[in-house]
Amino acid sequence: MQPSGVWATAVGVARVRALESERENALFRDPLAKAFAAAGGLWPASPPPEDEAARRRRLAVSFSIVIRTRFLDDLLLEASAAGVRQVVLLGAGMDSRAFRTDWPEGTRLFEVDTAAPLDFKAAVLRRERAVARCERITVAVDLREDWPGALAAAGHDPALPTVWIAEGLLIYLPEDAVELLLARIGALSAVGSRMGLTLGSRGVVERFGADAVPGSAASLWVSEMPDDPVGWLAGHGWDADGHTLRELAAAYGRPIGTPPQREERSGGLIGAVRR
Ligand SMILES: C[S@@+](CC[C@H](N)C(=O)[O-])C[C@H]1O[C@@H](n2cnc3c(N)ncnc32)[C@H](O)[C@@H]1O
Repeated sequence: MQPSGVWATAVGVARVRALESERENALFRDPLAKAFAAAGGLWPASPPPEDEAARRRRLAVSFSIVIRTRFLDDLLLEASAAGVRQVVLLGAGMDSRAFRTDWPEGTRLFEVDTAAPLDFKAAVLRRERAVARCERITVAVDLREDWPGALAAAGHDPALPTVWIAEGLLIYLPEDAVELLLARIGALSAVGSRMGLTLGSRGVVERFGADAVPGSAASLWVSEMPDDPVGWLAGHGWDADGHTLRELAAAYGRPIGTPPQREERSGGLIGAVRR
């Protein structure tokens, strides 16, 4: 089965993680990423595009994937340290944290995505003889359908705190679907639950999206973060902190050299705790 449609983007993300994992000063190591990229025909990674604008776009997207991966790795470690033992990866794609994170005993991790990427992933995991380091449960469902029902049937317990991750996902969902997703997450989040989100920066859909770059992965991007993401999440019952790529990149020792091109207010990398 070859990647297609929106889930092909998950294999592109794996390619970026494989490249990062090869760096001496990698911000994370994802040993399975190369196998996912190779199975999807994206490894060895193709050389950068000749076109300068396309090259810059690819670099920018790759950089943001690397920083957000590290941010959410840290957020999950903090949630574990705080005693959270349920993890839900929404739009899990080729996320390999079940296999590469040192989970405390008793951790249950749910990977929610549609059937095609989960089948593709399962085939690669079998070939690699990958062994999960927690209890890993896959839930094949479309997030526009009754995923809370599917998650409950898979054994998620809403009475216990959960850490939710929506990484590189919300940008693909129209605004009303994002609102519904947040409301549903809230309804399943016991006090002490946490959440890590990545939101499309303001202007990316216009700069990178369908009209700007037809046929690219970014052409599927439809939604950006609201003006005030922290206030928006407060309205959904979460105490949130928004971080910019620039701020986190500097904290991780990968500072962005160029000055900001526009005013950077709230960031789109969000960590939140349930009130
Ligand atoms: C860019 S990938 C990110 C994957 C993963 N979170 C990561 O960062 O490695 C987006 C993922 O969201 C999933 N996705 C998008 N829309 C979805 C939907 N309506 N229902 C379920 N999954 C969806 C895709 O299948 C894909 O795996």
